[in-house]
Amino acid sequence: MARIVGISAGRDGKVTESLVKAILEGTGEECEFISLSGKLIRPCEACNGCAKDNRCVLEDDFQPVLDRCYGADAIVFGAPNYWDRMNAKGQAFWERACFSGRHNSVFPLEGKLGVIAAVAGTDYNEPVIRDLKTYFDDARMHLVGEIAIQGEYACFTCGYGNHCPVGGFVEMYPLGTPVRPQLLPSLTNQHPDKPDLPEAERNRSNEARELGKTLSKVLRIRKKKLENFAAAGVES
Ligand SMILES: Cc1cc2nc3c(=O)[nH]c(=O)nc-3n(C[C@H](O)[C@H](O)[C@H](O)COP(=O)(O)O)c2cc1C
Repeated sequence: MARIVGISAGRDGKVTESLVKAILEGTGEECEFISLSGKLIRPCEACNGCAKDNRCVLEDDFQPVLDRCYGADAIVFGAPNYWDRMNAKGQAFWERACFSGRHNSVFPLEGKLGVIAAVAGTDYNEPVIRDLKTYFDDARMHLVGEIAIQGEYACFTCGYGNHCPVGGFVEMYPLGTPVRPQLLPSLTNQHPDKPDLPEAERNRSNEARELGKTLSKVLRIRKKKLENFAAAGVES
């Protein structure tokens, strides 16, 4: 079982996924990446089916993903901002993880390390960070760090975005601007509408990898301390 699990609640192969993968890469450890894209994760029904054994009884793709988290020491969770909240896929995952993981003082994610990767078409990532911090706290996880970057509105590739007055494209470029690959925001091409951006702000992959490096350092220190406790016969 990988010690670090990275999960993206964004689209397949898009910005959240690339951010989570860059953090995982930075750890230099064996990691498992899971995309929630295409997976069915229903919201919590508050049916209390999990009260007895802390396992969700809804039959969809949720529990196998949560089981991977149970087996890991750290979770890197990435999600985009949809309507100034973490997107519904991310919310549904954590509603169920936190509710099933709390009955009778059993908190299966307790003490695991967490990293937040937040993405937004604008720079307004605060809601995603706020929501994930709430869930991490509730699950009794320890936040190691967070990174927030600009994403790519789906309007960039819908085929109409450059002529749509209510889309994300016109928030950055004048209506009618031809959509060229250089205009698409990504992990390595932040704010393509700002020509004078310094390289470190344009390409955030180094920063993401540094966060991964920090995560693996924290994991190593913790492992060493636990080994020392075990050697001294102290239960952690
Ligand atoms: C339904 C929907 C609502 C969105 N709402 C917001 C929003 O309120 N603010 C914002 O900054 N971006 C918003 N976005 C843009 C996403 O955050 C952006 O496309 C992001 O890159 C998605 O992550 P992904 O590329 O990993 O799929 C929205 C996107 C969708 C599809």
